[in-house]
Amino acid sequence: YTVDWDVTAAEKGGYEWFMTKEIEEQPKAVADTLLGRLDQDGHLQLDEMRLTDDELREIDKIIVIACGTASYAGLVAKYAIEHWTRIPCEVELASEFRYRDPIIDRSTLVVAISQSGETMDTLMAIRYARQQRARVLSICNTNGSTIPRESDAVIYTHAGPEVAVASTKGFLSQVVACYLLGLYLAQAKGVKYGDEISSIIDELHQVPAGIQRMIDEGDQVRKLAAELVDRRSFLFLGRHVGFPVALEGALKLKELAYVHAEGFAAGELKHGPIALVEKGLPMFVVVPPRARDQLQEKILSNIQEVRARGAYTIVLVEDGDDSVVPFADVVIRLPKVPTLLQPLVATVPLQIFACELAELLGHDVDQPRNLAKSVTVE
Ligand code: G6P
Repeated sequence: YTVDWDVTAAEKGGYEWFMTKEIEEQPKAVADTLLGRLDQDGHLQLDEMRLTDDELREIDKIIVIACGTASYAGLVAKYAIEHWTRIPCEVELASEFRYRDPIIDRSTLVVAISQSGETMDTLMAIRYARQQRARVLSICNTNGSTIPRESDAVIYTHAGPEVAVASTKGFLSQVVACYLLGLYLAQAKGVKYGDEISSIIDELHQVPAGIQRMIDEGDQVRKLAAELVDRRSFLFLGRHVGFPVALEGALKLKELAYVHAEGFAAGELKHGPIALVEKGLPMFVVVPPRARDQLQEKILSNIQEVRARGAYTIVLVEDGDDSVVPFADVVIRLPKVPTLLQPLVATVPLQIFACELAELLGHDVDQPRNLAKSVTVE
């Protein structure tokens, strides 16, 4: 008597794809990234930090380097780190970094973000940074991989193994780790946001429930994918931290569904992308929380502009904000969270949408054509 079983099927734990499983693991991934980061007095502690507060206080510039989805986590990080620390923070694609003669020295902190810890472009960039005497901190999901081994300090994301080529829980946990880094630097510098730090930590602990809700409400976007399955082009708009969410939403569609998709900063619409808008073009718009009333007003007029030109508007907006409803063909509700944390909830429906569209198109969701999980060539 023998039992036929397949190791891969067993690892998928009943899910058809690793990606679906990994999307659904995100509440836990985020909770695990946050686990054990506060000491008894409510101070942040990052045990793999290995840089002293004195060393951190010498930092006068931060450069985040990464590739692909990880680079969008870096874009989110820029908003959070500059806001909390007042240290200038640049974000650069790892593949470009060492070819432009960057200005770095001992007081520069280079932050390398990599889920796998093996991406060659990122690794070569940190080697270059260390030759220039910069301090290198990596944010990584894979214990003992090359990038953390070659870094001065590490924040491990603890999201658990990510198998699907397109990153999902890796991304959310990178964003959380970037927040932890920003708050930690602010704490080391003793900047004035003390109250904000503890309230953000509290809010971060609420986020897994918000992510769970987006997963539970996934049928709405799955239906939308079925409705839009024949479209060959999608646009995504966002502002502030919603801009990297737009980029990530578009990248997921390219990677998985092989359709044309682009993300834009909403303010750039009038400087070019609006020319692409024609009748029936699906356009996802991430609306900043109502607290950001100036940004809100502007994005509202963007939605009206594209709608007037026939775009099919799919609007992601927080609970209780009805300002956009008259101009939206589809409203996707997001839980109320502080602006900086909105990417953690807003990205989830875009992941589910891309996954579903790919599946409906008959593509291999876990192993998209031409892509590799970890790109170990430059
Ligand atoms: C590859 C993957 C992407 C990933 C990128 C960076 O291109 O297909 O999903 O975002 O590498 O990977 P890393 O492991 O460095 O985060």
